[in-house]
Amino acid sequence: MVNSDIAYRHGGTPRSDLDRFGLPDRPILDFSVNLNFLGPPAIVRDRWGALLETIAHYPPVEGDGVGRYYQEKFHIHLENLLAGNGSTELIYLVPRALGFRHAVVVTPSYHDYERGSILAGTRVTRHALSPESGFSLSNPDALIRGLANADAVWIGRPSNPTGTLFPKQIILELSERCSQTRFIIDEAFIQFADNWEQESLLTQALRPNILIIHSITKFYALAGIRLGGIVGDKNLIARLKRAKEPWTVNGVADAIAPLLLHSAAYEQETRIANAKERERMFHRLEGLDGITPFRPSANFVLCQWTRTRTLDHLLHHLLSNGMYVRDCRNFPGLEANFFRVGLRSPVENNQLISLISSFPDGRYE
Ligand SMILES: Cc1ncc(COP(=O)(O)O)c(C=O)c1O
Repeated sequence: MVNSDIAYRHGGTPRSDLDRFGLPDRPILDFSVNLNFLGPPAIVRDRWGALLETIAHYPPVEGDGVGRYYQEKFHIHLENLLAGNGSTELIYLVPRALGFRHAVVVTPSYHDYERGSILAGTRVTRHALSPESGFSLSNPDALIRGLANADAVWIGRPSNPTGTLFPKQIILELSERCSQTRFIIDEAFIQFADNWEQESLLTQALRPNILIIHSITKFYALAGIRLGGIVGDKNLIARLKRAKEPWTVNGVADAIAPLLLHSAAYEQETRIANAKERERMFHRLEGLDGITPFRPSANFVLCQWTRTRTLDHLLHHLLSNGMYVRDCRNFPGLEANFFRVGLRSPVENNQLISLISSFPDGRYE
């Protein structure tokens, strides 16, 4: 069983590492962030004046604009959807509203599945995947055995920070074989994946024991706006609605969601640019001494540092020169010097590669 660890464990904290190393504050090119590197779609800036008009009024109680986005984009019926203040709100709502007693988390994965479960009083155990298998679900039978006494399992697709995209067929088969277990599938990053429309569980017939969590903040680089949704069987969604606070999707966010339906060109540009950078960066990182990258499927690359005995050496070198990556040593299973590179523009990515290439071995022995 997992200890009651309810500390926050998010990235994006270059300042605290600058302090830790006693380095002076300076501008940092932050590769610890994993948002669309094109930034938000232009339509959000263009309409900002009109969006401001919404702030004097209460928004719809349940995020009607977000509902429209999911209805039109994914053809989801409103009875199968609940909008949230980012997917984070929904990650915390699910175990609380559905009263899970025991949840299994497939790890390494996003820490808030465990934190949300623990705060809801749920007992948490882990199904740990190994780097040797490329963090794939190589032993589904072992997972099924682990689910024997569990009423829920959390799975990220693609998983953060590993970047693994577990095959849809495996998830569907598991959910059939374990029909009494709720499968909470986090597709926060799915739109970055190749062939995402075929890959996503959002675009296919719903199953009674699968809930799909989705984020609008990653693909559209709207992390500060907070937008997301959960999709599933109407009875489960109704139970979630009964337990949720009203008005958590604010008026600006709710007005932005339907605007995103007019961003096809931006979406296409994102997919092309992201796929190109993902492939290119994977190979560039693979070519560096002492770095093992893992096959990515979203907009970030998990790597292991083996050039010196501690990742602190790389972090120190990068921060001293104005760059930062996500230290992943606080993810269970990634303590052995794993880090994550969020994709940025080609020019910035090249800057990171050349800075890592210039790692001064002699200085860190
Ligand atoms: C895998 C995963 N799911 C969900 C979230 C939450 O995102 P948001 O609340 O912005 O939708 C994150 C944020 O980093 C994440 O990495």
